[in-house]
Amino acid sequence: MQKDEKYTVYHGLLCPKETHSMDSFQYFEGFNMRDDDVIAVTYPKSGTIWMQEILPLILNGGDFTPVHTIPNWDRVPWLEETRAALVLNNKPSPRAMVSHMPYHLMPPTFFSSKAKVIYVARNPKDVLVSSFYFHQMASFLDDPGTFEEFFDKFLAGQVLFGKWTDHVKSWRKNNLGDRILYVTYEEMVKDLSGVLIRFSNFLGRELTEQTLEQVVSHCTFTTMKTNAMSNFSLIPRDIMDHEKSPFLRKGIVGDWKNHLSPDQEVKFNTVIKQEMADSDIQFPWDED
Ligand code: A3P
Repeated sequence: MQKDEKYTVYHGLLCPKETHSMDSFQYFEGFNMRDDDVIAVTYPKSGTIWMQEILPLILNGGDFTPVHTIPNWDRVPWLEETRAALVLNNKPSPRAMVSHMPYHLMPPTFFSSKAKVIYVARNPKDVLVSSFYFHQMASFLDDPGTFEEFFDKFLAGQVLFGKWTDHVKSWRKNNLGDRILYVTYEEMVKDLSGVLIRFSNFLGRELTEQTLEQVVSHCTFTTMKTNAMSNFSLIPRDIMDHEKSPFLRKGIVGDWKNHLSPDQEVKFNTVIKQEMADSDIQFPWDED
């Protein structure tokens, strides 16, 4: 199948047709944001489904029912995807959702509301690797080709939702004040408990020590991998083939070291550094 058969192009961004449509974008643009909505924003492969697990538990004070009974795509839907219109209107507040959209494309009511945002960033080298395997297992994405080929496409931004650098920069230049919290995937891996406390404080929720421990334990990579409501095992194999690569693949920091050659590392760092030169964002992996 040709690439254009698999993707819808929205404001220059490649979005899979399997999950995005003109109707879903129309719903997105006219979305009626509520002041107590919470949105986790990510560039793809940066920890989106992790946030779909975490957010309901923080917002509902540690009630595990939704994470055990509702698939992640309906529990915390992608705002721009087809499921949003089917689930979000009827969801009681506070609603949690995720989005891969850049800041400037967010719907008008997002800007006029008080909805809160948690922006999760991940080392782009690990995003590249994670994405390469995702393309192998998801039949609704184009074949990534060799790692070398995919590497070039990633740096050129010819991938889902465009360039990583454009995405992270778009969410830093904003007028959101204290409505936005920044976190990295790496911080979540290193100290999930500490990050969950930051999330709870940001969202004005308090978890008891015991609940916090239970939530941390439920949201580990190994536990999530066995949760059928979160590991995409409910999706037919011809759409997602976990034999080729599981969606919850490794869940580690630094897998790029097993994939990039020294030359690729230099090239990658040079391009990202150049593109980030007009911003003052510091990431923990900048020195890697
Ligand atoms: P890997 O492919 O490196 O394993 P997204 O949800 O944005 O598509 O991101 C998917 C990536 O997040 C995958 O990375 C997946 O394994 C990782 N991930 C999901 N849940 C995780 C968890 N609980 N702990 C660590 N990594 C997790």
